[in-house]
Amino acid sequence: MHLSGSTRNLVLVGFMGSGKSSVGREIARRWGYRFLDTDSVIRQKHSKSILEIFESQGEPFFRDQEHLALCELQGSVDCVIATGGGIVLQPRNYPLLHTLGIIVWLTATEEFIWERVSRNRKRPLLQTANPRGTISHLISLRNPLYESVADITVETSGLTHEEVANRVAAAVKLWAPGRRENGH
Ligand code: S3P
Repeated sequence: MHLSGSTRNLVLVGFMGSGKSSVGREIARRWGYRFLDTDSVIRQKHSKSILEIFESQGEPFFRDQEHLALCELQGSVDCVIATGGGIVLQPRNYPLLHTLGIIVWLTATEEFIWERVSRNRKRPLLQTANPRGTISHLISLRNPLYESVADITVETSGLTHEEVANRVAAAVKLWAPGRRENGH
């Protein structure tokens, strides 16, 4: 598979637990692309987990690092790039995401998100008294942002990573790069 023209990479956005890393790895494997992930770029640079970075340096520092990671990824080609769930919080990230490539939003119902994220307790934003309520609140704030930045939306609830990868690949094949300029 080769993305054409200015569409040089596949960029995955979506809430925590939407499967960006697993699906991204699967697509990269199928297409012979490199898999990259903004959280890993940050983790490696600081030799710390994301939770440790939030705890020691705070969220604003992490958000700056996230923006910096996107800047550093500019110029990449033939990559599948998974982004942290909060990448859409900073409008300065939008042009960077768009220049990287085609943006796919992996969406899921709140129930499926909860089922997936409740297995892993290391997410800094969910260290609250009521993580389920936090998820609900964050989803309602963020879904309009994912929607506004995405070229393609893929529903993932109840699907395996392989099934989601199939859907993404099919949707990307049908997507014409000119559509973004024409306002979808
Ligand atoms: C965050 C999502 C996390 C990570 C950080 C903040 C968010 O990435 O970047 O904990 O604000 O939603 P995943 O979406 O890969 O869990």
